[in-house]
Amino acid sequence: MTRAISLHDVSKTYQRGVRVVDRLSLDIEPGEFLVLLGPSGCGKSTVLRMIAGLEEITEGQLLLDGEYANDLLPAARDMAMVFQNFALYPNMTSRANIGFPLRIEAPGEDPSPRVDATARMLGIEDLLDRLPAQLSGGERQRVAMGRAIARHPSAFLMDEPLSNLDAKLRNHLRAEITALTRQLGVTTVYVTHDQSEAMSLGDRVAVLRGGVLQQLDAPRSVYALPRNVFVAAFIGTPRINLLRGLVRAPLDGAMTISLGKQYLRLPEPLCLDHQLLRVQQGREVIVGLRSEAVRIAQPAAARPGEVAISGLVEHVEFQGHEVLVHFDTGSRPAVVPELEAPRPAARPAGRRRREGGTVLDRFRERAGALRAGPVVVLDDPPDGDPAPGSPEGRLPGDLVVRTTPDIDLRRGMHVPLLVDIAHLFVFDQHGERICPAPARLPDLEE
Ligand SMILES: Nc1ncnc2c1ncn2[C@@H]1O[C@H](COP(=O)(O)OP(=O)(O)O)[C@@H](O)[C@H]1O
Ligand SMILES: [Mg+2]
Repeated sequence: MTRAISLHDVSKTYQRGVRVVDRLSLDIEPGEFLVLLGPSGCGKSTVLRMIAGLEEITEGQLLLDGEYANDLLPAARDMAMVFQNFALYPNMTSRANIGFPLRIEAPGEDPSPRVDATARMLGIEDLLDRLPAQLSGGERQRVAMGRAIARHPSAFLMDEPLSNLDAKLRNHLRAEITALTRQLGVTTVYVTHDQSEAMSLGDRVAVLRGGVLQQLDAPRSVYALPRNVFVAAFIGTPRINLLRGLVRAPLDGAMTISLGKQYLRLPEPLCLDHQLLRVQQGREVIVGLRSEAVRIAQPAAARPGEVAISGLVEHVEFQGHEVLVHFDTGSRPAVVPELEAPRPAARPAGRRRREGGTVLDRFRERAGALRAGPVVVLDDPPDGDPAPGSPEGRLPGDLVVRTTPDIDLRRGMHVPLLVDIAHLFVFDQHGERICPAPARLPDLEE
């Protein structure tokens, strides 16, 4: 039997009022593979442990197959957990490790048939007589997985089970986990901070930020229609380009978004997805362009729906089958502080203030007050030119474009670019998506 798992407004507060999971609601269907995705510290493990019964739920309800389960003992929940650190008994062979939970559940029964069947399924028959110390990392994780599977649990809870493995093995086991869980049809909640893992494994992905659910959707939707700038920036490699823009009043009939020294002129009549920009006139927005939304080509080569800009090559990143070209377009990037790699010049003013802040500021931040705040840092006017030479004013390479390796580009070249407006994202000042429109607006539909 496989379980339906529901969380209704579930919160977790550790001592001193730190709310690390904040009113989380999720309905996981029987047999579904749901991924909890988010940066380190956003509360993923805490959610998993609450589902497992290893952590008390502070507020809200957990339902298992529709029944109230907050107080159910872990064993009664009939779920199997797989952790990052394998957690095998060092003095037991693989056979004994896999059979261990079976012997606890049914002391009189011989666990061998189930252990053997599980080992066959995982291709680890040859490893059954070895101790954990005689296994590689990947083999150990297979045995740990075997221990979870052999029990025929009603749900799997996996907490970053692949993150201690090297990249090649990770990809391999990723494919195995997909095949295995589909075959078993058991509800699986899988925790990871790796977006590509989440996208390739999940039926649906729940993106968490500071204990707050940002979006719950199929991988395709999370990528194509991110609800806010955090989700857009967290998902996809290379990272989506986020440029600060200003919505201008229509200029000889066309709506434009100014990007510092250039602008995007939106095709008229405005498509449904761009209608909402009318109410943003004069306001600052964040323009999101995935690297596949821009191509290197002359304005004359523009197809319908493409608009021309240009860029100065800052840096060329050769990747074999493709090349990532970093352009300076004279615009300025929007910064999502939680996702920024530590890079002194890229550090937003807001972050610096916080570091020098009072004890109270730091406490508030830890308490989630800042994490729940706006996603982006925008604290100077978009078109006001920064002081020349200011390291903070502009980052080099504010637009990354993916191209084929046959184009020979060097630093310092001026290059014409075409932006595919059908792939344009626009977010408001709070980081919420405006375009494509959040929902179809009936009053605008003719
Ligand atoms: N036992 C605990 N006591 C106090 N704070 C905790 C405890 N466990 C986790 N936390 C805090 O809760 C937050 C979420 O932790 P966790 O769920 O482990 O995040 P993730 O798995 O997403 O990295 C973190 O800020 C962490 O420091
Ligand atoms: Mg964790």
